[in-house]
Amino acid sequence: MADLRIGMIGYGFMARAHSNAYRKVSNFFPVKRKPVLQVACARNEASARSFADTWGYQTIETDWQKLVQRDDVDAVDICAPNNLHCEVALAAAKAGKMILCEKPLAMDVEQGRQMVEAVKKARVPNMVWYNYRRVPAVTMAKELIEAGKLGRIFHFRAKFLQDWTMSADLPQGGQGLWRLDVGAAGSGVTGDLLAHCIDTARWLNGEVDQVSAMTETFIKERKHNLTGKVEPVGIDDACAFLARFQNGSLATFESTRYARGHKAQYVFEINGQHASIAWDLQEMHRLEYFDHRDEGPLRGWRSIHVTDGEHPYMSHWWVPGLQIGYEHSFVHGVADFLEGLETGRAAQPDFADALATQRVCQAVLESARQGKWVKV
Ligand SMILES: NC(=O)c1ccc[n+]([C@@H]2O[C@H](COP(=O)([O-])OP(=O)(O)OC[C@H]3O[C@@H](n4cnc5c(N)ncnc54)[C@H](O)[C@@H]3O)[C@@H](O)[C@H]2O)c1
Repeated sequence: MADLRIGMIGYGFMARAHSNAYRKVSNFFPVKRKPVLQVACARNEASARSFADTWGYQTIETDWQKLVQRDDVDAVDICAPNNLHCEVALAAAKAGKMILCEKPLAMDVEQGRQMVEAVKKARVPNMVWYNYRRVPAVTMAKELIEAGKLGRIFHFRAKFLQDWTMSADLPQGGQGLWRLDVGAAGSGVTGDLLAHCIDTARWLNGEVDQVSAMTETFIKERKHNLTGKVEPVGIDDACAFLARFQNGSLATFESTRYARGHKAQYVFEINGQHASIAWDLQEMHRLEYFDHRDEGPLRGWRSIHVTDGEHPYMSHWWVPGLQIGYEHSFVHGVADFLEGLETGRAAQPDFADALATQRVCQAVLESARQGKWVKV
């Protein structure tokens, strides 16, 4: 089995999720290339060393520019804050590396365009880690829609709720908290959480035609960890928007980090002519399904435990009835990426697909600024 030598940039939440996935994938999926944890990169040497030791990376770098130039790296994985995605991806593409980039693709559409251009020109395989597509129950929703089970789709409804930024004492900037700093994140819940909802929605329900949005920044100033000064907050703390899809369906999306009690409530529901589907991240192995064509008094919502061998991805795991979790969606991401290398049918979303999600995010923010409907 040939190796696929990974150069990892960052050592936080996603770097851990991806490193775990690279280590596991060849134990469970019949892949032809085996990911090898080659180089871990962090600016701080001790942190890079400690991360490399924990996960089994062979060596470290403290400068991502050096990592992307190394001959012993085949694929660069970008797990750094959003403001680094574009710069790193352009350099990695130029160096001829495959690129796996965390979401959102970029800070804005213009950066995203440059990234798509760069991977096209360099002809390097690329993928963006919108991992919720690869939760078996969500993949099953896609299969049901493609099989025509829902018929014409009328409604798409999604929300992603959290509550971790409600304290006014929480600073902006630095590890984890870069999400509150518009200079590092590009936007707030729109690029962070709604980007996931939009990616899933586009995958399941096609392209968005136009949006009408409102955003709010509830806490207007926070101390900045890097400057030590109290600075204006430039991100959206909450965002809700209406959308019209090209297939004629109507949609509502909502996200906030001010929904007390909710840590990561990502839910969506789709209503079609014949059937409806609902999914909840906190019951991620279940798909709720209602089919109007079921006859008689037993017609009703059924809750499908998506753990059988015939369900997407599940034949690679345990025996029917046993669940898998959040981290497995990343293992599936690597498995699909590797399969794409073998078959030539690139795993989705690639950079070009993720750029379409970035366009919707940008239209949402633009609509909120202008207070009117915006075409995507
Ligand atoms: N797919 C998902 O569900 C999901 C979940 C969380 C985060 N993300 C995305 O993943 C990316 C990283 O987020 P995270 O939660 O892992 O953040 P994090 O704060 O946990 O980790 C970010 C890492 O980047 C490192 N970093 C920053 N600047 C660097 C530089 N110049 N060189 C090398 N390393 C640098 C930091 O030291 C840190 O280790 C973001 O783009 C985020 O939007 C995606």
